[in-house]
Amino acid sequence: MNAWPKSFALLQENEKWIPGGVVSLNRKSEPNICFVKGKGSRAWDLEGNEYIDYQAGFAAAFLGHNDADVNRAVESVLHADSLLMSAGPTNLEGIFAELFVKHVPTADSIQITTTGSEATYHAIRIARAVTGRDHVIVMQGGYNGWHNDVACNVISPLADIGPRVSPGEYPIDPLSAGIPASHQALVHVVNYNDIDSIKYVLKRYPVACVIMEPILQNVGILKPQEGYLQALRQLADTEGFLLIFDEVKTGFRHALGGYQSICGVTPDLSSFGKAVANGYPMGVIAGKKEYMDYFIHPEKGKECSSPALTTRTR
Ligand SMILES: Cc1ncc(COP(=O)(O)O)c(C=O)c1O
Repeated sequence: MNAWPKSFALLQENEKWIPGGVVSLNRKSEPNICFVKGKGSRAWDLEGNEYIDYQAGFAAAFLGHNDADVNRAVESVLHADSLLMSAGPTNLEGIFAELFVKHVPTADSIQITTTGSEATYHAIRIARAVTGRDHVIVMQGGYNGWHNDVACNVISPLADIGPRVSPGEYPIDPLSAGIPASHQALVHVVNYNDIDSIKYVLKRYPVACVIMEPILQNVGILKPQEGYLQALRQLADTEGFLLIFDEVKTGFRHALGGYQSICGVTPDLSSFGKAVANGYPMGVIAGKKEYMDYFIHPEKGKECSSPALTTRTR
């Protein structure tokens, strides 16, 4: 017997207007339970059952659902005369940016996005602009968003994440149809915690960046082995690619300054999302000034390919 008849009926109704009745593939689950409200660590389904929500929207609702302080802050903007839509720069974005920069080591400045995927998308584009290279390294089993550069080999089974005989030779397993083969040829999947698989790719391709969750959290929790992130930092400096930490999950979970504030390694660029606004749609890309200035001088990247990287000090 179906223990969630009301959820089942709602899904069938929604399916008339939404493919599969769900607005994210992640919500296509068995059993498929529809929720009506949340408060703190709890969520309630249509049948009236109460749950402890350990998943918390992939850590988006970091402070809990419906957090009173966050809601008050949002309401205060909505009710004040200050609400503006796209009219021009505002004081609120400056206040937010200053707070962010004070806490996150990599952040000389930031740009604000609506999602984490947009932040990782921008980060890769900047890396390509400043290095003049097109190839990108991602981690087997990681997740960095849905766009073409990173939508492959996502959330693999743990057994697939172990050492490889030929590092750098993971077949590309796109998340979706529709990603051009020419695009897939620019993406290389390496083994997490395996610096040799990165060196293998570097020998063969001009690599713009390594983009990675500093702790692989989309497959559960895989921590960096001692010295791994430090070795990556060193390799980025000597080989002239950008090191991008995707802190969409690790950001704020481990420390206010992100995992980078406690692991002793500062990336060149970082992406944040989800928890930064406790689930309200917001993302951030943060980084060194020389790279973030790309946002105001997008044409500059063409001039400052690899040689500029050799002048970086850290
Ligand atoms: C590590 C990581 N990066 C990027 C993203 C994409 O963020 P968004 O869903 O806000 O586009 C996610 C989403 O779960 C993520 O876990």
